[in-house]
Amino acid sequence: MRSDWSDLPAEVLGAITAHTGPIHRIEPSSAGNHADIAATVHAGGGRLFVKAARKTEPDTDGPEVRSLRWEAAINPHVTEYAPRLHWTVEVGGWLVLAFEHVQARHADYSPGSADLDILTKVIDSLQAHPVPSVLERKRVERRWEAMADVTMLAGDTLLHADLNPANVLLGDDGSVCLVDWTFAGRGAAFLELALLVPWLLKAGHTPVEAEAWLSRFPVWTNTDQAAIDLFSRVFADKWKLNLAANDAEWAREHADAAWQWADHRLEDGR
Ligand SMILES: Nc1ncnc2c1ncn2[C@@H]1O[C@H](COP(=O)(O)OP(=O)(O)O)[C@@H](O)[C@H]1O
Ligand SMILES: [Mg+2]
Repeated sequence: MRSDWSDLPAEVLGAITAHTGPIHRIEPSSAGNHADIAATVHAGGGRLFVKAARKTEPDTDGPEVRSLRWEAAINPHVTEYAPRLHWTVEVGGWLVLAFEHVQARHADYSPGSADLDILTKVIDSLQAHPVPSVLERKRVERRWEAMADVTMLAGDTLLHADLNPANVLLGDDGSVCLVDWTFAGRGAAFLELALLVPWLLKAGHTPVEAEAWLSRFPVWTNTDQAAIDLFSRVFADKWKLNLAANDAEWAREHADAAWQWADHRLEDGR
């Protein structure tokens, strides 16, 4: 849930402006919803992208702060893809991360979009990237561990694990930047692709079209199809549970897409 920039205590603002110089304008991000604050900051020294989260107690990180700590930890290891983290501030019960600002648009995942070819290249490259040691013990499959035996989701591939179109920023010059590394970790290579399915559906693909697109990745066609079936079910079940805590419209849409995919994969097996 986003807060407003004006919610930042004076002590935190002071620490920020000690880095930036006088701030002229704040542009809150229209996309994403995890960090308490995500905004483009126009300041004397230029533009920055600032993410900030409030601790739950002066000495206790909440989930948003923990997420930002992961982003800060992984950033120096994925500089080929991620905007650089310039500085951090931890004061007054807040953690603030200031990234290089990227002038770009969100990717378009609709059927036939040329952006999907760019996405293919960046995923191929990411999957060949060694897992940074900082993520050695951050297993992405933990998210579904309470739901089923998910050993088939374990693996040694670096996963961004949240390649939604608003986290894939495309510049006019053909450059691509991946942001929001909160969920990154290691796991089975096919998991990165499976997590794209709801986004492909929400962008207008049918489940058949989404699967046809994913079949361009050898790792998708070479993975035991029973493992993908199982994941589609576990993923949809988890989303159903999530709705009990969060029934925002985007969450309902995501859960619907997850169910649509699981139904498609499992309809022969019922
Ligand atoms: N370095 C950056 N430069 C410019 N825009 C960014 C940058 N990082 C993120 N954004 C934009 O802000 C949005 C929210 O940031 P993100 O890191 O995804 O936060 P959240 O965790 O809240 O989703 C992104 O979807 C993207 O549009
Ligand atoms: Mg995001």
